[in-house]
Amino acid sequence: MSNRPLNVGLVGGGKGAFIVHPHQKAIHFDGTRRVVAGALFPDPKVALEEAANWPYPIKGYGSYTEMIEANASLPEDQKLDYILIVTPNFVHFDPAMKAMKAGIAVFCEKPLCLNLKEANELVKTSRKLNVPFGVAHTYLGHWTSRLSRYIVRSGLLGDVRWADSSYIQGWLATKLEATGQQQASWRVDPKRAGGSGCGGDIGTHALMQLRYVTGLEVEQLSAQLETFVQGRQLDDHFTIYCQLNNGAKALVRASQICIGFKNDLGIVVAGTKGSLRWRQEDPECITICLPNQPDRVYWRGAVTPGDGFLPKDMPADLMAEPTIPSGHPEAFHDAFARLHRCFEADVRKWKAGQKFSVDGSKYANVEDGWTGIAFIETCVKSSAKKGAWTKMPKKI
Ligand SMILES: NC(=O)c1ccc[n+]([C@@H]2O[C@H](COP(=O)([O-])OP(=O)(O)OC[C@H]3O[C@@H](n4cnc5c(N)ncnc54)[C@H](O)[C@@H]3O)[C@@H](O)[C@H]2O)c1
Repeated sequence: MSNRPLNVGLVGGGKGAFIVHPHQKAIHFDGTRRVVAGALFPDPKVALEEAANWPYPIKGYGSYTEMIEANASLPEDQKLDYILIVTPNFVHFDPAMKAMKAGIAVFCEKPLCLNLKEANELVKTSRKLNVPFGVAHTYLGHWTSRLSRYIVRSGLLGDVRWADSSYIQGWLATKLEATGQQQASWRVDPKRAGGSGCGGDIGTHALMQLRYVTGLEVEQLSAQLETFVQGRQLDDHFTIYCQLNNGAKALVRASQICIGFKNDLGIVVAGTKGSLRWRQEDPECITICLPNQPDRVYWRGAVTPGDGFLPKDMPADLMAEPTIPSGHPEAFHDAFARLHRCFEADVRKWKAGQKFSVDGSKYANVEDGWTGIAFIETCVKSSAKKGAWTKMPKKI
């Protein structure tokens, strides 16, 4: 294809929506992608009004079905290259399937969908039609997550014995949904959020961080899904003890009732030679603890290969990822931009008829999304049996 900017269509994002905005900024970050269209709201009239009021010109559609169908008859330079799905969880499956079938790549918010039946179909369809499919696990996009992954997976900390991956918030410590607050209302409704509230919403991020950094998979788990706020149908506190496929143990935990906690996602990995600590609220550095040595703090943009811990031959693609000098802080939007940048590279290869990877090393893919849903379903089953150890389903 020509090197025109990639055209992105939004599914969701009107009327006070949250996550569309970090995404749309990140899409425009490099000048090589742009939002050109949107089906922004379930009501067609409002969807068109919202598109007309968007901060820059986009083509509005009354529904995502209309947007996807209209694509076939657009001239090449106006066709959508990918859609971004930023709707509540119950409106992920249908637009993703319709887009893939129309030959449009998909970047979808997490959790991937509502249940394993939908997840199976999404994986099978993306494989069959060979369409790039990314899932927006934001925090993989921090350069320090990439570095953590390299350090742990290349064995610099020895064998992983233990990990603690957690995402702690406090914004649902009261019955916020009773006030009609938009983001809370659908997140506590099983029909719109899925089988777990807190687990689906942020436990899936903690799981993804664990899998991305360690390369290990959960084999079986013992789950406690708890609801502290009276009258809420879904869990607001999620504690999962996991056995990993190398024999290590891990906690994957999340909470939305810890007053004062904001977006405290973090991971500790303890290996036989040392430990690693990372927190997304302080995302520019990681701490490495080695026996009988002062702790090492590695800052993005200030890493020296061959320093006595990191080897001389650090991977070229890791060291070459575009960043700004250290001390000019990167954060949430940069992480999103890194995901979209890497997804763009795959979409361009796909459009050019070349092999593309979508291998999960730069952003989560549809199989990662599947694993998140499989994890949630297994947690719900285990918790219903008072935390009985329960095996994860086999990968498809
Ligand atoms: N990756 C992250 O860090 C992160 C953070 C927040 C939310 N999320 C995920 O993003 C998704 C959206 O969350 P949010 O907090 O932005 O929700 P939100 O309620 O703020 O926004 C959802 C938007 O979807 C629109 N919508 C609903 N049904 C639609 C339909 N049929 N057609 C078109 N638009 C429709 C709503 O009108 C709204 O504009 C969820 O899946 C959530 O889990 C991810």
